[in-house]
Amino acid sequence: MSKKILVATEKPFSPAAVEQLVEVFKAADFDVQLLESYTDKADLLAAVVDADAMIIRSDKITAEVLDAAKQLKIVVRAGAGYDNIDCAKAAEKNVVAMNTPGQNSNAVAELVFGMMIMNARNIYNGIPGTEIRGKKIGIHAYGNVGLYVAKAAHGFGMEVFAFDPFVDDEAIKKDGVTPVGSVEELYETCQYVSLHIPETPQTMKSINFELLSKMPKGGTLINTARLGVIDEEGLMKMFAERPDFVYLSDISPTCKDDIVAQNEDGRYFFTPKKMGAQTAEANINAGVAAANQIVKFFEDGDVTFKVN
Ligand code: 3PG
Repeated sequence: MSKKILVATEKPFSPAAVEQLVEVFKAADFDVQLLESYTDKADLLAAVVDADAMIIRSDKITAEVLDAAKQLKIVVRAGAGYDNIDCAKAAEKNVVAMNTPGQNSNAVAELVFGMMIMNARNIYNGIPGTEIRGKKIGIHAYGNVGLYVAKAAHGFGMEVFAFDPFVDDEAIKKDGVTPVGSVEELYETCQYVSLHIPETPQTMKSINFELLSKMPKGGTLINTARLGVIDEEGLMKMFAERPDFVYLSDISPTCKDDIVAQNEDGRYFFTPKKMGAQTAEANINAGVAAANQIVKFFEDGDVTFKVN
């Protein structure tokens, strides 16, 4: 019997990406069901019942969803972070969880610079702004996105630093980036810090007042990573105590209304919806990679990108 592949994307892929991933499944003779822009969890629970495989984005694959999925063998997160999947529960149910590392990284890195420059130029309101050339940028976690951020930062003439205890200093140096020995040193050194850490029990709320308050004058934190890594009490304290601090984020904080009410424009910017990976190219790269990984999993037992 043909496999049923569910593509469940509360934030849909571009039409071109959908077309291309459907082609991959057609060639393998698999059936595809699209569940796009759904707002009710019940729709996901109903659609997953007879799915053999799923492609998702930031969609939450909880124990409840996994229990509803009676035939599921594999779930592929078309993207990097898989904190939205209950990986332990998936493992318990013999469901393979995968991601598609690197496929949407350039799009996220471009948004970092989009937000930085827009802010440095005062949202193009006619008032003289500043340039990013010659400024120091710290990359907090030097993975796929961090690497693209480093390349672009060099293009803009920035001085580039990185902290990542899981990456060899020599590998960082090879890219013309200066590795620093501690997270504190990164924040002390750089006016701009771009966050690329995953959300894990270890990183939750790790970006706190103590760390942020080390940033030099004009300290600007750019978050295209995750909401949970920010200690929002510390963030509010930073806004209150450091009038020069700026926060640019692709994920609206839960304390957004307070930040907006208590601070002038120019101290913050929040995208209306997580937009880092929302380009046609990133959608095609990640969506098609996910589709190919599913086909290889069923046809060859390939589990190269397994994360659980
Ligand atoms: C990722 O982890 O790949 C990014 O955060 C993108 O997430 P999205 O697919 O929900 O836009």
